[in-house]
Amino acid sequence: MRTSEQWLEHFRLNLNEKRVDWTLTPDIKDYELTNIISSLQAWQLGETSEGKNLLHASTLYAKEINDSFYPEAVKLFIKEEQKHGNNLGKYLDLINQPRIKKDWGDSLFRYIRYFNSSMELWTLSVITVESTAQLFYQSLKSATECKLLKQICTDILIDEAAHIDFQFERFLTIYRNKNKASRFFSYRFYKLFYYSTILVVWFAHKKAFKAGGNNFDKYWLKMKLKFNKTIGRFNEKKTITFKYTGHEKNINKFKISAIRVVNSQNSITNHIGSKKKNRIKLFN
Ligand SMILES: [Fe+2]
Ligand SMILES: [Fe+2]
Repeated sequence: MRTSEQWLEHFRLNLNEKRVDWTLTPDIKDYELTNIISSLQAWQLGETSEGKNLLHASTLYAKEINDSFYPEAVKLFIKEEQKHGNNLGKYLDLINQPRIKKDWGDSLFRYIRYFNSSMELWTLSVITVESTAQLFYQSLKSATECKLLKQICTDILIDEAAHIDFQFERFLTIYRNKNKASRFFSYRFYKLFYYSTILVVWFAHKKAFKAGGNNFDKYWLKMKLKFNKTIGRFNEKKTITFKYTGHEKNINKFKISAIRVVNSQNSITNHIGSKKKNRIKLFN
Protein backbone atom coordinates (compact mmCIF):
# COMPACT_ATOMS: atom_id res chain seq x y z
CA MET A 1 0.00 0.00 0.00
CA ARG A 2 1.49 3.33 -1.03
CA THR A 3 1.18 6.30 1.27
CA SER A 4 -0.52 9.49 0.08
CA GLU A 5 2.90 11.13 0.09
CA GLN A 6 4.19 8.48 -2.33
CA TRP A 7 1.15 8.95 -4.56
CA LEU A 8 1.72 12.69 -4.48
CA GLU A 9 5.28 12.10 -5.66
CA HIS A 10 4.02 9.80 -8.43
CA PHE A 11 1.49 12.36 -9.71
CA ARG A 12 4.02 15.22 -9.52
CA LEU A 13 6.56 13.31 -11.61
CA ASN A 14 3.96 11.94 -14.01
CA LEU A 15 2.74 15.44 -14.80
CA ASN A 16 6.14 16.12 -16.40
CA GLU A 17 6.01 13.06 -18.66
CA LYS A 18 5.34 14.15 -22.26
CA ARG A 19 4.14 11.16 -24.22
CA VAL A 20 2.26 12.89 -27.05
CA ASP A 21 4.06 14.34 -30.06
CA TRP A 22 1.93 17.34 -30.99
CA THR A 23 3.99 18.02 -34.13
CA LEU A 24 2.20 15.04 -35.75
CA THR A 25 -0.58 15.94 -38.17
CA PRO A 26 -3.89 14.22 -37.40
CA ASP A 27 -4.76 11.68 -40.04
CA ILE A 28 -8.16 10.20 -39.28
CA LYS A 29 -10.25 8.65 -42.04
CA ASP A 30 -13.90 9.66 -42.49
CA TYR A 31 -15.19 6.13 -41.82
CA GLU A 32 -13.14 5.93 -38.60
CA LEU A 33 -14.50 9.27 -37.45
CA THR A 34 -18.12 8.24 -38.11
CA ASN A 35 -17.74 5.37 -35.64
CA ILE A 36 -16.04 7.25 -32.84
CA ILE A 37 -16.87 10.95 -33.00
CA SER A 38 -19.89 11.09 -30.67
CA SER A 39 -18.09 9.00 -28.02
CA LEU A 40 -14.88 10.98 -28.40
CA GLN A 41 -16.82 14.20 -27.80
CA ALA A 42 -18.68 12.72 -24.81
CA TRP A 43 -15.49 11.41 -23.12
CA GLN A 44 -13.73 14.71 -23.81
CA LEU A 45 -16.51 16.46 -21.90
CA GLY A 46 -16.46 13.84 -19.13
CA GLU A 47 -12.70 14.29 -18.58
CA THR A 48 -13.00 18.04 -18.03
CA SER A 49 -14.85 17.97 -14.70
CA GLU A 50 -13.51 20.48 -12.15
CA GLY A 51 -13.56 17.78 -9.50
CA LYS A 52 -14.75 20.16 -6.76
CA ASN A 53 -17.03 17.58 -5.12
CA LEU A 54 -14.37 14.89 -5.17
CA LEU A 55 -11.91 17.29 -3.60
CA HIS A 56 -14.49 18.25 -0.96
CA ALA A 57 -15.13 14.58 -0.11
CA SER A 58 -11.37 13.87 0.04
CA THR A 59 -10.73 16.81 2.33
CA LEU A 60 -13.44 15.65 4.76
CA TYR A 61 -12.12 12.11 4.64
CA ALA A 62 -8.48 13.20 5.08
CA LYS A 63 -9.44 15.10 8.26
CA GLU A 64 -11.05 11.95 9.62
CA ILE A 65 -7.95 9.84 9.03
CA ASN A 66 -5.51 12.68 9.68
CA ASP A 67 -3.74 12.49 6.32
CA SER A 68 -2.91 15.95 4.97
CA PHE A 69 -1.22 14.55 1.82
CA TYR A 70 -4.33 12.78 0.55
CA PRO A 71 -6.27 15.85 -0.77
CA GLU A 72 -3.05 17.05 -2.42
CA ALA A 73 -2.71 13.72 -4.23
CA VAL A 74 -6.39 13.89 -5.25
CA LYS A 75 -5.82 17.42 -6.63
CA LEU A 76 -3.11 16.08 -8.95
CA PHE A 77 -5.25 13.08 -9.86
CA ILE A 78 -7.98 15.52 -10.99
CA LYS A 79 -5.36 17.51 -12.88
CA GLU A 80 -4.40 14.39 -14.81
CA GLU A 81 -8.04 13.78 -15.75
CA GLN A 82 -8.24 17.36 -16.96
CA LYS A 83 -5.10 16.79 -19.03
CA HIS A 84 -6.98 13.96 -20.78
CA GLY A 85 -9.88 16.32 -21.48
CA ASN A 86 -7.51 19.01 -22.78
CA ASN A 87 -5.65 16.59 -25.07
CA LEU A 88 -8.87 15.18 -26.50
CA GLY A 89 -10.21 18.73 -26.90
CA LYS A 90 -7.05 19.82 -28.68
CA TYR A 91 -7.42 16.84 -31.00
CA LEU A 92 -11.06 17.72 -31.76
CA ASP A 93 -9.97 21.28 -32.58
CA LEU A 94 -7.25 19.99 -34.91
CA ILE A 95 -9.71 17.85 -36.88
CA ASN A 96 -12.29 20.68 -36.94
CA GLN A 97 -14.88 18.90 -34.84
CA PRO A 98 -16.82 20.73 -32.13
CA ARG A 99 -16.36 20.18 -28.40
CA ILE A 100 -19.79 19.46 -26.94
CA LYS A 101 -21.17 21.15 -23.81
CA LYS A 102 -23.80 18.60 -22.85
CA ASP A 103 -24.14 14.83 -22.93
CA TRP A 104 -26.79 12.76 -21.11
CA GLY A 105 -24.27 10.27 -19.69
CA ASP A 106 -22.01 13.03 -18.45
CA SER A 107 -24.98 14.92 -16.93
CA LEU A 108 -26.17 11.75 -15.19
CA PHE A 109 -22.76 11.10 -13.59
CA ARG A 110 -22.30 14.77 -12.68
CA TYR A 111 -25.74 14.71 -10.99
CA ILE A 112 -24.85 11.59 -8.96
CA ARG A 113 -21.46 13.07 -8.01
CA TYR A 114 -23.02 16.40 -7.01
CA PHE A 115 -24.85 14.85 -4.04
CA ASN A 116 -22.00 12.62 -3.03
CA SER A 117 -19.64 13.48 -0.19
CA SER A 118 -18.85 9.88 0.76
CA MET A 119 -15.31 8.73 -0.06
CA GLU A 120 -16.56 5.16 -0.30
CA LEU A 121 -19.03 6.02 -3.08
CA TRP A 122 -16.44 8.19 -4.79
CA THR A 123 -13.85 5.44 -4.97
CA LEU A 124 -16.52 2.98 -6.13
CA SER A 125 -17.72 5.25 -8.92
CA VAL A 126 -14.20 6.27 -9.99
CA ILE A 127 -12.97 2.65 -10.17
CA THR A 128 -16.04 1.70 -12.19
CA VAL A 129 -15.72 4.57 -14.64
CA GLU A 130 -11.93 4.19 -14.92
CA SER A 131 -12.39 0.51 -15.80
CA THR A 132 -14.76 1.40 -18.65
CA ALA A 133 -12.34 4.19 -19.65
CA GLN A 134 -9.51 1.68 -20.07
CA LEU A 135 -11.57 -0.37 -22.47
CA PHE A 136 -12.92 2.69 -24.23
CA TYR A 137 -9.47 4.20 -24.96
CA GLN A 138 -8.17 0.81 -26.00
CA SER A 139 -11.08 0.51 -28.44
CA LEU A 140 -10.51 4.06 -29.68
CA LYS A 141 -6.86 3.26 -30.27
CA SER A 142 -7.75 0.12 -32.24
CA ALA A 143 -10.46 1.92 -34.22
CA THR A 144 -8.06 4.35 -35.92
CA GLU A 145 -4.78 4.46 -37.80
CA CYS A 146 -4.19 8.09 -36.82
CA LYS A 147 -0.83 8.16 -35.02
CA LEU A 148 -1.63 11.26 -33.01
CA LEU A 149 -4.91 9.86 -31.68
CA LYS A 150 -3.19 6.56 -30.88
CA GLN A 151 -0.52 8.42 -28.87
CA ILE A 152 -3.17 10.38 -26.97
CA CYS A 153 -4.91 7.09 -26.10
CA THR A 154 -1.66 5.41 -24.99
CA ASP A 155 -0.85 8.35 -22.73
CA ILE A 156 -4.31 8.15 -21.15
CA LEU A 157 -4.07 4.36 -20.75
CA ILE A 158 -0.79 4.66 -18.84
CA ASP A 159 -2.33 7.27 -16.53
CA GLU A 160 -5.52 5.26 -16.03
CA ALA A 161 -3.62 2.14 -14.91
CA ALA A 162 -2.17 4.20 -12.04
CA HIS A 163 -5.54 5.81 -11.30
CA ILE A 164 -7.12 2.42 -10.75
CA ASP A 165 -4.35 1.44 -8.30
CA PHE A 166 -4.68 4.78 -6.50
CA GLN A 167 -8.43 4.40 -6.05
CA PHE A 168 -8.31 0.68 -5.35
CA GLU A 169 -5.88 1.05 -2.45
CA ARG A 170 -8.10 3.70 -0.88
CA PHE A 171 -11.27 1.70 -1.50
CA LEU A 172 -9.74 -1.40 0.10
CA THR A 173 -8.78 0.59 3.21
CA ILE A 174 -12.35 1.90 3.54
CA TYR A 175 -13.81 -1.57 3.01
CA ARG A 176 -11.52 -3.20 5.57
CA ASN A 177 -12.65 -0.74 8.23
CA LYS A 178 -16.20 -2.02 7.99
CA ASN A 179 -17.68 -4.70 10.19
CA LYS A 180 -18.63 -8.11 8.78
CA ALA A 181 -22.33 -7.39 8.25
CA SER A 182 -21.66 -4.08 6.60
CA ARG A 183 -19.08 -5.69 4.29
CA PHE A 184 -21.64 -8.29 3.23
CA PHE A 185 -24.20 -5.70 2.08
CA SER A 186 -21.64 -3.22 0.75
CA TYR A 187 -19.98 -5.79 -1.50
CA ARG A 188 -23.32 -6.70 -3.07
CA PHE A 189 -24.11 -3.04 -3.62
CA TYR A 190 -20.69 -2.42 -5.25
CA LYS A 191 -21.27 -5.34 -7.61
CA LEU A 192 -24.73 -4.10 -8.57
CA PHE A 193 -23.43 -0.57 -9.12
CA TYR A 194 -20.48 -1.78 -11.22
CA TYR A 195 -22.45 -4.06 -13.51
CA SER A 196 -25.37 -1.67 -14.01
CA THR A 197 -22.97 1.19 -14.80
CA ILE A 198 -20.99 -0.81 -17.35
CA LEU A 199 -24.25 -1.76 -19.05
CA VAL A 200 -25.18 1.93 -19.37
CA VAL A 201 -21.70 2.70 -20.76
CA TRP A 202 -22.04 -0.08 -23.33
CA PHE A 203 -25.32 1.27 -24.67
CA ALA A 204 -23.95 4.82 -24.76
CA HIS A 205 -20.72 3.92 -26.62
CA LYS A 206 -21.27 0.58 -28.31
CA LYS A 207 -20.51 1.97 -31.77
CA ALA A 208 -16.99 2.96 -30.70
CA PHE A 209 -16.44 -0.26 -28.73
CA LYS A 210 -17.43 -2.31 -31.77
CA ALA A 211 -15.23 -0.24 -34.08
CA GLY A 212 -12.35 -1.14 -31.76
CA GLY A 213 -13.13 -4.85 -32.05
CA ASN A 214 -15.26 -5.30 -28.95
CA ASN A 215 -18.75 -6.69 -29.37
CA PHE A 216 -20.97 -7.08 -26.31
CA ASP A 217 -19.59 -10.51 -25.36
CA LYS A 218 -15.99 -9.30 -25.42
CA TYR A 219 -16.85 -6.08 -23.63
CA TRP A 220 -18.68 -7.93 -20.87
CA LEU A 221 -15.95 -10.52 -20.40
CA LYS A 222 -13.20 -7.89 -20.23
CA MET A 223 -15.18 -5.80 -17.78
CA LYS A 224 -15.79 -8.90 -15.65
CA LEU A 225 -12.02 -9.54 -15.57
CA LYS A 226 -11.45 -5.96 -14.50
CA PHE A 227 -14.00 -6.38 -11.70
CA ASN A 228 -12.21 -9.54 -10.53
CA LYS A 229 -8.90 -7.65 -10.43
CA THR A 230 -10.30 -4.83 -8.29
CA ILE A 231 -13.54 -4.95 -6.29
CA GLY A 232 -13.81 -8.73 -6.71
CA ARG A 233 -10.58 -9.09 -4.68
CA PHE A 234 -12.35 -7.81 -1.57
CA ASN A 235 -13.60 -11.34 -1.04
CA GLU A 236 -10.11 -12.86 -1.11
CA LYS A 237 -9.06 -14.56 2.08
CA LYS A 238 -5.35 -13.87 1.65
CA THR A 239 -3.86 -10.47 2.42
CA ILE A 240 -3.47 -8.11 -0.51
CA THR A 241 -0.06 -6.46 -0.48
CA PHE A 242 1.32 -3.48 -2.38
CA LYS A 243 4.91 -2.44 -2.83
CA TYR A 244 6.11 1.05 -3.72
CA THR A 245 9.22 0.90 -5.89
CA GLY A 246 9.69 4.53 -6.91
CA HIS A 247 8.28 6.56 -9.78
CA GLU A 248 10.44 5.19 -12.62
CA LYS A 249 9.64 1.57 -11.85
CA ASN A 250 5.97 2.39 -11.30
CA ILE A 251 5.65 4.20 -14.61
CA ASN A 252 7.18 1.17 -16.32
CA LYS A 253 4.71 -1.02 -14.46
CA PHE A 254 1.79 1.13 -15.68
CA LYS A 255 3.19 1.08 -19.24
CA ILE A 256 3.34 -2.73 -19.07
CA SER A 257 -0.16 -2.77 -17.67
CA ALA A 258 -1.37 -0.63 -20.62
CA ILE A 259 0.32 -3.09 -23.03
CA ARG A 260 -1.31 -6.00 -21.20
CA VAL A 261 -4.73 -4.47 -21.92
CA VAL A 262 -3.89 -4.77 -25.65
CA ASN A 263 -2.60 -8.33 -25.33
CA SER A 264 -5.54 -9.50 -23.24
CA GLN A 265 -7.85 -7.86 -25.78
CA ASN A 266 -6.23 -9.93 -28.55
CA SER A 267 -6.31 -13.20 -26.66
CA ILE A 268 -9.91 -12.68 -25.54
CA THR A 269 -10.84 -11.81 -29.13
CA ASN A 270 -9.34 -15.10 -30.33
CA HIS A 271 -10.89 -17.07 -27.48
CA ILE A 272 -14.38 -15.75 -28.05
CA GLY A 273 -14.01 -15.94 -31.81
CA SER A 274 -13.31 -19.67 -31.66
CA LYS A 275 -15.82 -20.60 -28.95
CA LYS A 276 -18.87 -18.53 -29.75
CA LYS A 277 -19.03 -18.30 -33.50
CA ASN A 278 -22.61 -19.44 -33.80
CA ARG A 279 -24.13 -17.80 -30.79
CA ILE A 280 -26.88 -15.22 -31.35
CA LYS A 281 -25.53 -11.94 -30.08
CA LEU A 282 -28.43 -9.98 -28.64
CA PHE A 283 -26.52 -6.77 -28.16
CA ASN A 284 -24.79 -6.50 -31.53
FE1 LIG B 1 -9.13 10.04 -17.65
FE1 LIG C 1 -8.54 8.36 -14.71
